[in-house]
Amino acid sequence: MYDVFSLPSITFPKDFLWGSATAGHQIEGDNIHSQMWFDEQQDKFWLDDPGRKFKATSGKACDNYRLYREDVDLLSVLGHQAYRMSIEWSRIEPVEGQWDVSAVNHYIDLLTYLNQRGIQVFVTLHHFTHPLWFEQQGGFRKRENLRYFERYLEYLLPQISGFVNGWNVINEFNLWGGLVPTPETGNLKFNMLRFHALGYHMIKRFSSAPVSSAHAFIHWFPRRYNDTLDRRTTGYVDLITNEFFFHAIRTGELVYPGMDCEYDPEVKGALDFWAVNYYTRHMVDARQASLQGPRFKHKELKMIPMDFYLEEMYPEGLVANLERLTDRPVYITENGCSADDDRFRIVYLALHLSALKEAIERGVDVRGYFYWSLMDNYEWGSFIPRFGLVEVDLKTFKRTPKPSALFYRDIIRENGFGGETVQRYLKELPTLQKGE
Ligand code: BGC
Repeated sequence: MYDVFSLPSITFPKDFLWGSATAGHQIEGDNIHSQMWFDEQQDKFWLDDPGRKFKATSGKACDNYRLYREDVDLLSVLGHQAYRMSIEWSRIEPVEGQWDVSAVNHYIDLLTYLNQRGIQVFVTLHHFTHPLWFEQQGGFRKRENLRYFERYLEYLLPQISGFVNGWNVINEFNLWGGLVPTPETGNLKFNMLRFHALGYHMIKRFSSAPVSSAHAFIHWFPRRYNDTLDRRTTGYVDLITNEFFFHAIRTGELVYPGMDCEYDPEVKGALDFWAVNYYTRHMVDARQASLQGPRFKHKELKMIPMDFYLEEMYPEGLVANLERLTDRPVYITENGCSADDDRFRIVYLALHLSALKEAIERGVDVRGYFYWSLMDNYEWGSFIPRFGLVEVDLKTFKRTPKPSALFYRDIIRENGFGGETVQRYLKELPTLQKGE
Protein backbone atom coordinates (compact mmCIF):
# COMPACT_ATOMS: atom_id res chain seq x y z
CA MET A 1 0.00 0.00 0.00
CA TYR A 2 1.03 3.59 -0.31
CA ASP A 3 2.03 6.07 2.39
CA VAL A 4 -0.31 8.86 1.42
CA PHE A 5 0.04 10.39 4.89
CA SER A 6 3.53 11.66 4.07
CA LEU A 7 2.81 13.19 0.68
CA PRO A 8 4.53 16.57 0.26
CA SER A 9 2.24 19.59 -0.11
CA ILE A 10 1.44 20.46 -3.69
CA THR A 11 -0.35 23.39 -5.25
CA PHE A 12 -2.05 23.47 -8.63
CA PRO A 13 -1.75 26.30 -11.14
CA LYS A 14 -3.78 29.45 -10.56
CA ASP A 15 -7.26 29.16 -12.11
CA PHE A 16 -7.08 25.37 -12.17
CA LEU A 17 -10.65 24.14 -12.55
CA TRP A 18 -11.99 21.51 -10.14
CA GLY A 19 -15.21 19.59 -10.59
CA SER A 20 -16.92 16.28 -11.14
CA ALA A 21 -18.59 14.43 -13.99
CA THR A 22 -21.77 12.48 -14.61
CA ALA A 23 -23.70 11.19 -17.63
CA GLY A 24 -27.42 11.45 -18.31
CA HIS A 25 -28.35 7.79 -18.65
CA GLN A 26 -26.39 6.87 -15.54
CA ILE A 27 -28.15 9.29 -13.22
CA GLU A 28 -31.38 10.67 -14.70
CA GLY A 29 -33.64 7.61 -14.74
CA ASP A 30 -36.36 6.57 -17.20
CA ASN A 31 -34.34 7.27 -20.31
CA ILE A 32 -36.87 5.21 -22.16
CA HIS A 33 -36.26 6.26 -25.75
CA SER A 34 -32.58 5.35 -25.78
CA GLN A 35 -31.04 2.28 -27.34
CA MET A 36 -29.47 1.31 -24.00
CA TRP A 37 -32.84 1.30 -22.26
CA PHE A 38 -34.20 -0.93 -25.02
CA ASP A 39 -31.26 -3.32 -24.71
CA GLU A 40 -31.57 -3.44 -20.93
CA GLN A 41 -35.17 -4.64 -21.24
CA GLN A 42 -33.90 -7.54 -23.41
CA ASP A 43 -31.33 -8.40 -20.73
CA LYS A 44 -28.59 -7.23 -23.08
CA PHE A 45 -25.92 -5.23 -21.34
CA TRP A 46 -23.25 -3.28 -22.95
CA LEU A 47 -20.56 -3.97 -20.34
CA ASP A 48 -21.64 -7.57 -20.25
CA ASP A 49 -19.21 -10.36 -19.68
CA PRO A 50 -19.92 -13.90 -18.66
CA GLY A 51 -18.18 -13.52 -15.31
CA ARG A 52 -20.33 -10.60 -14.28
CA LYS A 53 -22.77 -11.57 -11.59
CA PHE A 54 -24.75 -8.42 -11.00
CA LYS A 55 -27.13 -7.22 -13.62
CA ALA A 56 -29.69 -4.49 -13.36
CA THR A 57 -31.64 -2.20 -15.63
CA SER A 58 -31.17 1.54 -15.22
CA GLY A 59 -34.75 2.16 -14.02
CA LYS A 60 -34.93 5.39 -12.05
CA ALA A 61 -31.12 5.47 -11.78
CA CYS A 62 -30.47 8.31 -9.25
CA ASP A 63 -33.72 10.06 -10.13
CA ASN A 64 -31.67 13.07 -11.11
CA TYR A 65 -34.12 14.11 -13.84
CA ARG A 66 -36.40 15.05 -10.96
CA LEU A 67 -33.77 15.96 -8.35
CA TYR A 68 -31.41 17.94 -10.57
CA ARG A 69 -31.70 21.17 -8.59
CA GLU A 70 -30.82 19.35 -5.40
CA ASP A 71 -27.78 17.91 -7.15
CA VAL A 72 -26.64 21.34 -8.27
CA ASP A 73 -26.99 22.51 -4.66
CA LEU A 74 -24.83 19.58 -3.65
CA LEU A 75 -22.14 20.55 -6.16
CA SER A 76 -22.21 23.99 -4.69
CA VAL A 77 -21.97 22.83 -1.06
CA LEU A 78 -19.07 20.57 -1.98
CA GLY A 79 -17.24 23.50 -3.54
CA HIS A 80 -17.18 22.20 -7.11
CA GLN A 81 -16.29 24.90 -9.60
CA ALA A 82 -17.26 22.93 -12.67
CA TYR A 83 -19.57 20.13 -13.70
CA ARG A 84 -19.38 17.82 -16.70
CA MET A 85 -22.79 16.48 -17.67
CA SER A 86 -24.41 15.01 -20.74
CA ILE A 87 -27.57 15.78 -22.63
CA GLU A 88 -29.76 12.90 -23.75
CA TRP A 89 -30.49 13.14 -27.45
CA SER A 90 -33.21 10.49 -27.08
CA ARG A 91 -35.20 12.73 -24.74
CA ILE A 92 -35.04 15.67 -27.11
CA GLU A 93 -35.75 13.68 -30.27
CA PRO A 94 -37.59 10.58 -29.03
CA VAL A 95 -39.11 10.02 -32.47
CA GLU A 96 -37.18 10.80 -35.62
CA GLY A 97 -37.68 14.46 -36.53
CA GLN A 98 -39.95 15.27 -33.55
CA TRP A 99 -38.68 17.57 -30.86
CA ASP A 100 -39.74 17.33 -27.23
CA VAL A 101 -39.69 20.93 -26.08
CA SER A 102 -40.17 19.99 -22.43
CA ALA A 103 -36.92 18.01 -22.50
CA VAL A 104 -35.01 20.96 -23.95
CA ASN A 105 -36.54 23.18 -21.30
CA HIS A 106 -35.45 20.76 -18.62
CA TYR A 107 -31.83 21.04 -19.74
CA ILE A 108 -32.08 24.80 -20.11
CA ASP A 109 -33.34 25.01 -16.54
CA LEU A 110 -30.50 22.81 -15.31
CA LEU A 111 -27.90 24.85 -17.21
CA THR A 112 -29.39 28.12 -16.00
CA TYR A 113 -29.29 26.92 -12.42
CA LEU A 114 -25.64 25.84 -12.77
CA ASN A 115 -24.79 29.25 -14.21
CA GLN A 116 -26.60 30.99 -11.36
CA ARG A 117 -24.61 28.96 -8.87
CA GLY A 118 -21.38 30.04 -10.60
CA ILE A 119 -20.53 26.49 -11.67
CA GLN A 120 -18.85 26.18 -15.07
CA VAL A 121 -20.50 23.65 -17.33
CA PHE A 122 -18.86 21.17 -19.66
CA VAL A 123 -21.49 19.51 -21.82
CA THR A 124 -21.08 16.11 -23.45
CA LEU A 125 -23.41 15.77 -26.41
CA HIS A 126 -23.18 12.00 -26.68
CA HIS A 127 -22.31 9.81 -23.70
CA PHE A 128 -22.83 6.25 -25.01
CA THR A 129 -26.61 6.66 -25.48
CA HIS A 130 -28.68 7.83 -28.41
CA PRO A 131 -32.26 7.42 -29.63
CA LEU A 132 -33.37 3.90 -30.40
CA TRP A 133 -34.57 5.03 -33.83
CA PHE A 134 -31.04 6.27 -34.64
CA GLU A 135 -29.58 2.92 -33.61
CA GLN A 136 -32.13 1.11 -35.76
CA GLN A 137 -31.06 3.22 -38.74
CA GLY A 138 -27.50 1.96 -38.25
CA GLY A 139 -26.25 4.52 -35.70
CA PHE A 140 -22.61 5.51 -36.07
CA ARG A 141 -22.02 2.55 -38.37
CA LYS A 142 -23.45 4.45 -41.33
CA ARG A 143 -21.75 7.53 -42.65
CA GLU A 144 -24.99 8.90 -44.12
CA ASN A 145 -26.42 9.06 -40.57
CA LEU A 146 -24.30 12.15 -40.00
CA ARG A 147 -27.31 14.04 -41.29
CA TYR A 148 -29.39 13.03 -38.25
CA PHE A 149 -26.75 14.24 -35.85
CA GLU A 150 -26.40 17.47 -37.80
CA ARG A 151 -30.13 18.15 -37.73
CA TYR A 152 -30.25 17.49 -34.00
CA LEU A 153 -27.33 19.81 -33.28
CA GLU A 154 -28.78 22.49 -35.54
CA TYR A 155 -31.88 22.39 -33.32
CA LEU A 156 -30.20 22.04 -29.93
CA LEU A 157 -27.04 24.13 -30.05
CA PRO A 158 -28.50 27.62 -30.53
CA GLN A 159 -30.72 27.01 -27.50
CA ILE A 160 -28.01 25.93 -25.05
CA SER A 161 -24.70 27.36 -26.28
CA GLY A 162 -24.87 30.50 -24.17
CA PHE A 163 -24.72 28.43 -20.98
CA VAL A 164 -21.75 26.22 -21.82
CA ASN A 165 -18.07 26.70 -20.92
CA GLY A 166 -16.62 23.62 -22.56
CA TRP A 167 -17.75 20.86 -24.91
CA ASN A 168 -17.27 17.16 -25.47
CA VAL A 169 -18.94 16.05 -28.67
CA ILE A 170 -18.68 12.33 -27.94
CA ASN A 171 -17.58 10.45 -24.85
CA GLU A 172 -14.76 7.95 -25.34
CA PHE A 173 -15.12 7.94 -29.10
CA ASN A 174 -11.82 6.14 -29.43
CA LEU A 175 -12.97 2.88 -27.83
CA TRP A 176 -15.80 2.16 -30.26
CA GLY A 177 -14.99 -0.78 -32.49
CA GLY A 178 -13.01 -2.84 -29.99
CA LEU A 179 -9.49 -4.18 -30.33
CA VAL A 180 -9.72 -6.70 -33.13
CA PRO A 181 -9.97 -4.97 -36.51
CA THR A 182 -12.45 -5.89 -39.21
CA PRO A 183 -13.56 -3.72 -42.15
CA GLU A 184 -16.68 -2.88 -40.09
CA THR A 185 -14.70 -1.67 -37.09
CA GLY A 186 -12.37 0.33 -39.33
CA ASN A 187 -15.37 1.99 -40.88
CA LEU A 188 -16.84 2.68 -37.44
CA LYS A 189 -13.56 4.21 -36.24
CA PHE A 190 -13.51 6.53 -39.26
CA ASN A 191 -17.14 7.44 -38.64
CA MET A 192 -16.53 8.28 -34.98
CA LEU A 193 -14.01 10.85 -36.14
CA ARG A 194 -16.43 12.17 -38.74
CA PHE A 195 -19.21 12.54 -36.17
CA HIS A 196 -16.77 14.22 -33.83
CA ALA A 197 -15.57 16.62 -36.53
CA LEU A 198 -19.14 17.45 -37.55
CA GLY A 199 -19.98 18.24 -33.91
CA TYR A 200 -16.83 20.32 -33.57
CA HIS A 201 -17.62 22.51 -36.58
CA MET A 202 -21.30 22.83 -35.70
CA ILE A 203 -20.47 24.00 -32.17
CA LYS A 204 -18.07 26.57 -33.60
CA ARG A 205 -21.01 28.23 -35.36
CA PHE A 206 -22.75 28.92 -32.06
CA SER A 207 -20.17 28.97 -29.28
CA SER A 208 -16.71 30.31 -28.52
CA ALA A 209 -16.13 27.76 -25.72
CA PRO A 210 -13.42 25.14 -26.34
CA VAL A 211 -14.44 21.86 -27.93
CA SER A 212 -13.12 18.30 -27.63
CA SER A 213 -14.31 14.70 -27.41
CA ALA A 214 -13.39 12.67 -24.36
CA HIS A 215 -10.63 10.15 -24.96
CA ALA A 216 -10.54 6.96 -22.89
CA PHE A 217 -6.77 6.98 -22.53
CA ILE A 218 -5.95 3.46 -21.47
CA HIS A 219 -2.38 2.71 -20.53
CA TRP A 220 -1.72 -0.65 -22.16
CA PHE A 221 1.07 -2.92 -20.99
CA PRO A 222 2.36 -6.31 -22.20
CA ARG A 223 1.43 -9.34 -20.18
CA ARG A 224 4.96 -10.75 -20.54
CA TYR A 225 7.30 -7.80 -20.48
CA ASN A 226 10.10 -9.47 -22.41
CA ASP A 227 7.97 -11.25 -24.96
CA THR A 228 8.31 -9.66 -28.40
CA LEU A 229 4.81 -10.63 -29.47
CA ASP A 230 3.18 -9.16 -26.36
CA ARG A 231 5.25 -5.99 -26.68
CA ARG A 232 4.46 -5.46 -30.35
CA THR A 233 0.79 -6.29 -29.83
CA THR A 234 0.70 -3.70 -27.06
CA GLY A 235 2.02 -1.14 -29.55
CA TYR A 236 -0.62 -2.21 -32.00
CA VAL A 237 -3.47 -1.95 -29.48
CA ASP A 238 -2.21 1.46 -28.48
CA LEU A 239 -2.20 2.44 -32.15
CA ILE A 240 -5.83 1.54 -32.79
CA THR A 241 -7.22 2.94 -29.54
CA ASN A 242 -4.99 5.94 -28.87
CA GLU A 243 -2.54 6.97 -31.56
CA PHE A 244 -5.03 6.54 -34.40
CA PHE A 245 -7.06 9.39 -32.95
CA PHE A 246 -4.18 11.63 -31.92
CA HIS A 247 -2.68 11.26 -35.39
CA ALA A 248 -5.98 11.96 -37.14
CA ILE A 249 -6.59 15.12 -35.14
CA ARG A 250 -3.04 16.34 -35.64
CA THR A 251 -2.71 15.59 -39.35
CA GLY A 252 -6.16 14.86 -40.80
CA GLU A 253 -4.89 11.40 -41.83
CA LEU A 254 -7.14 8.49 -40.91
CA VAL A 255 -4.83 5.50 -40.68
CA TYR A 256 -6.21 2.17 -39.51
CA PRO A 257 -5.27 -1.48 -40.21
CA GLY A 258 -7.19 -2.94 -43.15
CA MET A 259 -8.34 0.47 -44.39
CA ASP A 260 -6.91 2.67 -47.10
CA CYS A 261 -5.67 5.87 -45.52
CA GLU A 262 -8.02 8.80 -45.94
CA TYR A 263 -7.24 12.45 -45.59
CA ASP A 264 -10.09 14.39 -44.00
CA PRO A 265 -9.53 18.14 -43.73
CA GLU A 266 -12.58 18.42 -41.45
CA VAL A 267 -10.84 16.23 -38.85
CA LYS A 268 -7.49 17.99 -38.97
CA GLY A 269 -7.20 20.35 -36.02
CA ALA A 270 -10.81 19.77 -34.94
CA LEU A 271 -10.00 19.75 -31.23
CA ASP A 272 -9.21 22.65 -28.89
CA PHE A 273 -8.10 20.62 -25.87
CA TRP A 274 -7.43 17.00 -25.02
CA ALA A 275 -10.20 15.63 -22.83
CA VAL A 276 -8.72 12.66 -21.01
CA ASN A 277 -10.59 9.94 -19.16
CA TYR A 278 -8.10 7.91 -17.17
CA TYR A 279 -8.76 5.04 -14.79
CA THR A 280 -6.08 2.39 -14.85
CA ARG A 281 -3.84 0.28 -17.06
CA HIS A 282 -4.87 -2.80 -19.02
CA MET A 283 -2.89 -5.86 -19.90
CA VAL A 284 -2.33 -6.99 -23.50
CA ASP A 285 -1.85 -10.67 -24.28
CA ALA A 286 -0.93 -11.56 -27.86
CA ARG A 287 -2.03 -15.15 -27.27
CA GLN A 288 -5.68 -14.36 -26.53
CA ALA A 289 -8.21 -13.79 -29.31
CA SER A 290 -9.49 -10.79 -27.40
CA LEU A 291 -5.89 -9.55 -27.00
CA GLN A 292 -6.65 -8.87 -23.35
CA GLY A 293 -4.90 -10.77 -20.62
CA PRO A 294 -6.46 -12.34 -17.55
CA ARG A 295 -5.69 -10.94 -14.14
CA PHE A 296 -2.51 -12.09 -12.50
CA LYS A 297 -3.14 -14.12 -9.38
CA HIS A 298 -1.51 -11.55 -7.15
CA LYS A 299 -3.86 -8.90 -8.54
CA GLU A 300 -6.82 -10.80 -7.17
CA LEU A 301 -6.10 -8.92 -4.02
CA LYS A 302 -7.50 -5.92 -5.72
CA MET A 303 -8.83 -2.62 -4.57
CA ILE A 304 -12.35 -3.08 -5.80
CA PRO A 305 -14.38 -5.54 -3.78
CA MET A 306 -16.58 -6.68 -6.65
CA ASP A 307 -16.66 -8.10 -10.14
CA PHE A 308 -15.30 -5.22 -12.09
CA TYR A 309 -12.65 -4.67 -14.67
CA LEU A 310 -10.68 -2.03 -12.88
CA GLU A 311 -8.05 -3.90 -11.03
CA GLU A 312 -5.37 -1.69 -9.63
CA MET A 313 -4.29 1.87 -9.06
CA TYR A 314 -1.72 2.90 -11.62
CA PRO A 315 -1.18 6.65 -11.33
CA GLU A 316 2.15 6.34 -13.17
CA GLY A 317 0.12 5.62 -16.29
CA LEU A 318 -1.53 9.02 -16.07
CA VAL A 319 1.84 10.79 -16.18
CA ALA A 320 3.12 8.66 -19.06
CA ASN A 321 -0.09 9.18 -21.02
CA LEU A 322 -0.25 12.92 -20.53
CA GLU A 323 3.32 13.35 -21.68
CA ARG A 324 2.04 12.35 -25.13
CA LEU A 325 -0.35 15.31 -25.18
CA THR A 326 1.78 18.41 -24.95
CA ASP A 327 0.46 20.13 -28.09
CA ARG A 328 -2.83 21.37 -26.57
CA PRO A 329 -4.31 22.16 -23.17
CA VAL A 330 -5.60 19.13 -21.28
CA TYR A 331 -8.61 18.62 -19.05
CA ILE A 332 -9.02 15.39 -17.11
CA THR A 333 -12.68 14.79 -17.89
CA GLU A 334 -12.91 11.56 -15.87
CA ASN A 335 -10.78 9.88 -13.23
CA GLY A 336 -12.06 7.88 -10.32
CA CYS A 337 -12.44 4.51 -8.71
CA SER A 338 -15.24 2.27 -7.63
CA ALA A 339 -14.92 1.04 -4.07
CA ASP A 340 -17.37 0.25 -1.32
CA ASP A 341 -14.76 1.32 1.20
CA ASP A 342 -14.50 5.07 0.66
CA ARG A 343 -10.99 5.14 2.10
CA PHE A 344 -9.75 3.69 -1.20
CA ARG A 345 -11.22 6.71 -2.95
CA ILE A 346 -9.19 9.05 -0.76
CA VAL A 347 -6.02 7.08 -1.52
CA TYR A 348 -6.89 6.97 -5.22
CA LEU A 349 -7.51 10.71 -5.36
CA ALA A 350 -4.33 11.53 -3.46
CA LEU A 351 -2.18 9.39 -5.75
CA HIS A 352 -3.74 10.46 -9.02
CA LEU A 353 -3.67 14.15 -8.17
CA SER A 354 0.00 13.79 -7.19
CA ALA A 355 0.60 12.17 -10.57
CA LEU A 356 -1.30 14.97 -12.27
CA LYS A 357 0.87 17.56 -10.58
CA GLU A 358 3.93 15.70 -11.78
CA ALA A 359 2.62 15.76 -15.34
CA ILE A 360 2.15 19.53 -15.03
CA GLU A 361 5.72 19.89 -13.80
CA ARG A 362 6.88 17.90 -16.80
CA GLY A 363 5.30 20.47 -19.10
CA VAL A 364 1.76 19.26 -19.74
CA ASP A 365 -0.72 22.15 -19.78
CA VAL A 366 -3.41 20.61 -17.54
CA ARG A 367 -6.20 23.11 -16.91
CA GLY A 368 -8.74 21.16 -14.87
CA TYR A 369 -9.88 17.92 -13.27
CA PHE A 370 -13.32 16.29 -13.14
CA TYR A 371 -13.68 13.43 -10.68
CA TRP A 372 -15.83 10.50 -11.88
CA SER A 373 -18.35 10.60 -10.44
CA LEU A 374 -20.29 13.10 -8.38
CA MET A 375 -22.53 10.33 -7.08
CA ASP A 376 -22.95 6.57 -7.07
CA ASN A 377 -24.81 5.77 -10.28
CA TYR A 378 -25.85 3.24 -12.87
CA GLU A 379 -22.72 1.57 -14.16
CA TRP A 380 -24.01 0.20 -17.48
CA GLY A 381 -25.63 -2.99 -16.26
CA SER A 382 -25.18 -2.73 -12.52
CA PHE A 383 -25.55 -0.49 -9.50
CA ILE A 384 -22.87 -2.40 -7.61
CA PRO A 385 -19.82 -0.33 -8.59
CA ARG A 386 -19.68 2.74 -6.40
CA PHE A 387 -17.76 5.54 -8.03
CA GLY A 388 -19.44 8.40 -6.19
CA LEU A 389 -18.16 11.08 -3.90
CA VAL A 390 -21.75 11.10 -2.75
CA GLU A 391 -23.66 8.00 -1.72
CA VAL A 392 -27.14 7.54 -3.18
CA ASP A 393 -29.74 5.45 -1.43
CA LEU A 394 -31.33 3.67 -4.37
CA LYS A 395 -34.71 3.37 -2.66
CA THR A 396 -35.17 6.84 -1.19
CA PHE A 397 -32.67 8.64 -3.49
CA LYS A 398 -31.25 10.38 -0.48
CA ARG A 399 -27.79 11.79 -1.15
CA THR A 400 -25.07 11.61 1.51
CA PRO A 401 -21.57 12.97 0.89
CA LYS A 402 -18.81 10.51 1.76
CA PRO A 403 -15.58 11.52 3.55
CA SER A 404 -13.86 11.57 0.13
CA ALA A 405 -16.25 14.35 -0.92
CA LEU A 406 -15.07 16.44 2.01
CA PHE A 407 -11.44 15.58 1.30
CA TYR A 408 -11.99 16.72 -2.31
CA ARG A 409 -13.77 19.88 -1.11
CA ASP A 410 -10.67 20.79 0.93
CA ILE A 411 -8.42 20.14 -2.06
CA ILE A 412 -10.54 22.49 -4.15
CA ARG A 413 -10.54 25.12 -1.43
CA GLU A 414 -6.75 24.96 -1.01
CA ASN A 415 -6.10 24.40 -4.73
CA GLY A 416 -3.82 21.59 -3.61
CA PHE A 417 -3.17 19.26 -0.74
CA GLY A 418 -0.57 17.32 1.18
CA GLY A 419 -0.24 14.49 3.68
CA GLU A 420 -1.89 16.64 6.32
CA THR A 421 -5.02 17.06 4.25
CA VAL A 422 -5.14 13.29 3.87
CA GLN A 423 -4.79 12.81 7.61
CA ARG A 424 -7.90 14.90 8.18
CA TYR A 425 -10.05 12.29 6.44
CA LEU A 426 -8.12 9.07 6.59
CA LYS A 427 -7.07 7.53 9.88
CA GLU A 428 -5.62 4.32 8.54
CA LEU A 429 -5.10 2.72 5.19
CA PRO A 430 -7.92 0.52 3.95
CA THR A 431 -7.44 -3.22 3.89
CA LEU A 432 -7.44 -5.06 0.60
CA GLN A 433 -10.31 -7.43 0.05
CA LYS A 434 -9.88 -10.91 -1.28
CA GLY A 435 -11.21 -10.98 -4.85
CA GLU A 436 -14.20 -13.04 -5.86
C1 BGC B 1 -17.37 6.11 -18.80
C2 BGC B 1 -18.40 6.21 -17.69
C3 BGC B 1 -18.24 5.02 -16.76
C4 BGC B 1 -16.85 5.03 -16.19
C5 BGC B 1 -16.55 3.93 -15.19
C6 BGC B 1 -16.00 5.67 -18.36
O1 BGC B 1 -15.46 4.87 -19.33
O2 BGC B 1 -17.32 7.32 -19.51
O3 BGC B 1 -19.67 6.26 -18.27
O4 BGC B 1 -19.19 5.01 -15.76
O5 BGC B 1 -15.93 4.88 -17.24
O6 BGC B 1 -16.61 2.69 -15.77
